Amino acid sequence: MAGLSQLPEPVVRPALVVISGLPGTGKSYFGQRLARRWPFVVLESDALRRTLYPSPDYSPQESWRLFKAVHLLIERLLEKGVSVILDATNLAERHREYLYSIAERRDVRLVLVRVEAPPEVVRQRLKARVETAQANSEADWGVYRKMRPSLERISRKHYAVDTSRDITPVLDKIIREVRK
Ligand SMILES: Nc1ncnc2c1ncn2[C@@H]1O[C@H](COP(=O)(O)OP(=O)(O)OP(=O)(O)O)[C@@H](O)[C@H]1O
Ligand SMILES: [Mg+2]
Repeated sequence: MAGLSQLPEPVVRPALVVISGLPGTGKSYFGQRLARRWPFVVLESDALRRTLYPSPDYSPQESWRLFKAVHLLIERLLEKGVSVILDATNLAERHREYLYSIAERRDVRLVLVRVEAPPEVVRQRLKARVETAQANSEADWGVYRKMRPSLERISRKHYAVDTSRDITPVLDKIIREVRK
């Protein structure tokens, strides 16, 4: 969210990077690393949720309102020529389709990223994250297991990144793509 007060310089053809993946797979980590390499505004759904709802209940109504605001923000930023990273689980193709349509309508570059990590790595990361309370997300291993069946494959061309390995090659490819 800090990025919203200081927007990057506008560009002619901005990019919309959509990060998807289960809790603890490293979406926020990956998004932050990408934003260090290129002027993006990162919209982290968990951070925006806490801004709008200091005590979130994760109800469908709450999420619906949250994502309505997220979509509006994305549209406004792209309209200004600002590139956006959306850091959210984005598990359902039907939710991602709305993002695809924004990109098409605005004729911006759409970059899709599927973030994953081996379940045992995720379990350990989430345990450590809960103990140190160092993230905007409150998701734990129970939430991961509950969400796992909702993971739908991405129908379009996308990057797949395993964050238990070196993420630099995928970062490099994305930077090359948005530079074009
Ligand atoms: N490549 C990595 N190397 C080291 N630590 C990592 C890596 N990727 C993620 N982590 C750590 O693992 C934890 C979970 O990652 P992160 O918070 O990015 O997951 P997330 O996908 O954003 O989860 P959520 O959906 O709950 O927001 C964090 O503490 C993060 O710092
Ligand atoms: Mg996160």
